[in-house]
Parts: sequence; C-alpha cells; structure tokens
Amino acid sequence: MSRDLSHFRENYEHGVLRRADLADDPIVQFERWWDSWMAKPRYDAAACVLATASASGVPAARYVLCRGFDADGFEIYTNQESRKAQDLRTNPQAALVFGWLEEDRQVRVEGPVTQIDDATADAYWASRPRGSQLGGWASDQSEVLADRAELERHRAEAADRFGGEEEGDPVPRPPYWGGYRVGFDRMEFWQGRPSRLHDRFAYRRNSSEPTGWTIDRLSP
Ligand SMILES: Cc1cc2nc3c(=O)[nH]c(=O)nc-3n(C[C@H](O)[C@H](O)[C@H](O)COP(=O)(O)O)c2cc1C
Repeated sequence: MSRDLSHFRENYEHGVLRRADLADDPIVQFERWWDSWMAKPRYDAAACVLATASASGVPAARYVLCRGFDADGFEIYTNQESRKAQDLRTNPQAALVFGWLEEDRQVRVEGPVTQIDDATADAYWASRPRGSQLGGWASDQSEVLADRAELERHRAEAADRFGGEEEGDPVPRPPYWGGYRVGFDRMEFWQGRPSRLHDRFAYRRNSSEPTGWTIDRLSP
C-alpha cells in the first residue's frame, strides 16, 4: 500500500522575520511569538513535541503540554517512570518543538533537563481536575496493559483508595509523578516564506556576548 501525499503543499505567506525584529534574549522572542499565537483561540494551545534520546542514542518524540515558561526553561509534567523519564534519567538533554502552523511558525528549543521541585509539582498537581489526578494514579505510563478493563480497574482502585467523589476532594500526588524543566542553550525561530526561502534565526548561548547570546541567520 502506498499513498501519495506530495500534493499537500502550502506557500507560507503569513509573515516575515527580520534580524532587526528579534529580541536580544530568546525567551523574550518566544514570549512575543507566544502572545501572537494566543491572540486567537487555539485548540490545545500549549501542545508541543518533546524529543528525548536513550543512553544508546535511540530517539523518541511525543506531544506534551507545556505548563509554563520563563528564563529558566519550559515546564512539563509526566510520569517519572515512563519511557521519556527513563531516557531523561540517563540522558538529561531534550528538544522541544512548538509548531504554530497556522502562522507558518516553528520554534525549536534544545537544552539540559532538570527536575521540578516538589512544592511546584504539588501546586500544579493540585490545580488538575480530580479525574486527571485519578488518571495519574491509574496509569503505569508506557507499560503494557492486558486490556482497557485493566486501566479502568486501576482507576476505580485509586478512587476507592482516596475516597471522596467531588471535584476538589484531595487526591495526593503520586510519588512517581512530577515535572521537568527543559532549559535552553539553543532556540531557533522559523518563519515560513514563499518558495521555501524561509527566515530562520538560531540563538546560541555565548557568555562572551554582552547579551549572553549569539544570533545567526540560518539557510532555510
Ligand atoms: C496533545 C497531547 C498532549 C499531551 N500531553 C502530555 C503531557 O503533558 N504529559 C504526558 O506525560 N503525556 C502527554 N501526552 C501523551 C504523550 O504524548 C505520550 O503518549 C506519553 O507521555 C507517553 O510517552 P512515553 O512512553 O514516550 O514516555 C500528550 C499527548 C498529546 C497528543
């Protein structure tokens, strides 16, 4: 079976990115593009792709939800026994890709990953709906399940264990559930342009620059 997809082709005419437009610091530039992205309602606005690699260099990528960003990096939350967590334990480096395709934009983030402290993880956990909290207890993320019923049984066991039924009834954070902060030593902003002559600017951390960053225009 072979499906030809070669006719899907956009011409990328939504905007331009000039060197003079760029902020000195990539997180400020990210914030500008984030604000522009959020100027319209977006479905699952904070979704991005997290790429990790195992100790032996095997890559894996999956969507996650970015739960916040600042000068220290991008916050994500997950099960810390999952495949991604096992990758990060032995190789604490990651890449994130934000694909804001309706604006012909992509942002690539690359850097070291650190664990988010317990108090911050507790605060985020507490903000999640009760159903998501019970789902967190029910799922041995990335492990094989016999069937759907096994997952639903785990969820029912979690509900019994913690009691309560109402939204807001406390469910503690599982010991294996928490957050990572993806720091950045490199960040790249891509603005699609017609005829594949896209604008690409890469920031690289460089302590000898007054701004702390080298910015290069890259060939598309
Ligand atoms: C839009 C979207 C958002 C997601 N957000 C998260 C998330 O924030 N945390 C998470 O652990 N998994 C999230 N997932 C599920 C992951 O893509 C993935 O299936 C899961 O984390 C297991 O990945 P792993 O086996 O590589 O560890 C999301 C999936 C999608 C499609």
